[in-house]
Amino acid sequence: MQQALTLLNGLTPAEFMAEYWQKKPLLIRGAMPGFEGLLDPETLAGIACDSEVPARLIQFDPARAQHGDGWQVRQGPFDDEDFTALPAQHWTLLVQGMNHILPEAQALLSQFNFIPTARLDDVMVSYAPTGGGVGPHIDSYDVFLLQGAGKRRWRISQQTDLRLIPDAPLRILSHFVSEQEWVLEPGDMLYLPPNVAHWGIAEDDDCMTYSIGFRAPAARELAVEFLEACRQDSLPDELYRDPQLQPVADAAAVDADMVDNVAAMLRRLPWQTEQLGPFLAKYFSEPKAYVVFSPNRKLSLDKFTQRVAQHGVVMDLQTQMLHWQGQYFINGEAVAAPVEAASLLNVLANQRQLAATLCQVPTVTCLLPWLHDMYLSGYVHLAENAA
Ligand code: SIN
Ligand code: CO
Repeated sequence: MQQALTLLNGLTPAEFMAEYWQKKPLLIRGAMPGFEGLLDPETLAGIACDSEVPARLIQFDPARAQHGDGWQVRQGPFDDEDFTALPAQHWTLLVQGMNHILPEAQALLSQFNFIPTARLDDVMVSYAPTGGGVGPHIDSYDVFLLQGAGKRRWRISQQTDLRLIPDAPLRILSHFVSEQEWVLEPGDMLYLPPNVAHWGIAEDDDCMTYSIGFRAPAARELAVEFLEACRQDSLPDELYRDPQLQPVADAAAVDADMVDNVAAMLRRLPWQTEQLGPFLAKYFSEPKAYVVFSPNRKLSLDKFTQRVAQHGVVMDLQTQMLHWQGQYFINGEAVAAPVEAASLLNVLANQRQLAATLCQVPTVTCLLPWLHDMYLSGYVHLAENAA
């Protein structure tokens, strides 16, 4: 709790949520005292060259920053030449999904576990030399912007003028008017709710910012995905019927009767609120498109049982596990595990590991075949081999 209090400017998570979450910005000086970052710019650039996580290089010409052609965006993966060709200033490298690569970034994310995992997106890390940044913009999601090494000047505005620079390759506000401004130093953090205009500019050549970002699915996307899930599970195979059909003069017209019949059909779709919990747990546990799991070396169930009792297991950094009222989902798949495994599954889902003490027979016996499968798929690892 003490840690959470520092993290949130002396507020408890409940106070922070009531007053700021999704409502207003909060500057938190010394949110993480002593935090200087998790990696250096060279390592970040190496990850942007070698990994599948989404990376972007954004560069601008200060003399043409108000014009679309003054900005350039390139998507990774990159190679060394992409970096050697960069000017000394006015560019930035942004790498998403760092919690899938660095255990320390996953640990950073877990400091925010007073917010449901289903709402957490990822940790993005940026590096920028002096003057670098992505320009003034709004994001549709909540974000905590934690300063690692170096300094960044943040300007924010609650403006409603959201006009964009035409033809720019990224969404940059053309009429940004700063209302508040701060220079963030290592360990300082700025919380922004969705749609607050902001502009961060590197103040020196060391500037690294850690964005703890959230996700908020669009109603449209949820509706489509939910109906698709229902189609597979529970929607009846009903066909359109029209026994009352009258002869028509305008055969090309879709008529009002047809609209009424289909409206009635849609109203009869038998989805229930009870289906939403498992749907959401499955949906939010689905891996991002770029995620690939590497299967672990084959190990018989007997050998696995011995090894797990010695070492315990840890989740792969890319694994997502959620639950709804005793139903568990891992990486978009339902967990076929017995009810008596629920308390162990809860620990695994929340702590992302099961210590060896919990992996002894008979405590772990009911979970072993499932855990073994997860191990073979690469969703979990023996703790000694933690990725
Ligand atoms: C950054 O440049 O690190 C932050 C990007 C943002 O403003 O969302
Ligand atoms: Co932003």
